[in-house]
Amino acid sequence: MSHEERDAPAAARESAAVFKVQFEDGGDAFTVGPDEALLHAAARAGIELPSSCRNGTCRTCMCQLVSGEVGYKIRWPGLLPEEKAAGWILPCIAHAQSDLVLRRDRPRIDWRHQRDQ
Ligand code: FES
Repeated sequence: MSHEERDAPAAARESAAVFKVQFEDGGDAFTVGPDEALLHAAARAGIELPSSCRNGTCRTCMCQLVSGEVGYKIRWPGLLPEEKAAGWILPCIAHAQSDLVLRRDRPRIDWRHQRDQ
């Protein structure tokens, strides 16, 4: 058995992982694999989320992660360190690494005000 053949079952298990994504308000829920962006998985389930660029730059899709873990395949998603620390994510490029709970509404945060204090 070649090295590639030994790794195939592990790769298949990993790609078969499916996570559940639900909204804090108890409404819609959908499933997503680790290689699919949250925005795309939501659309596949018939759930429309705000979006524009779909590449992590415009921030139209920005929403808050209430629980769970996401990762990004791009090195610098368009979020400030403070925003990432506060749980903000970009669903158009975020990949689930666990089951997730998202907050649909975007609270208004004035980072300038916090920076000036
Ligand atoms: S749609 Fe532009 S950052 Fe997500």
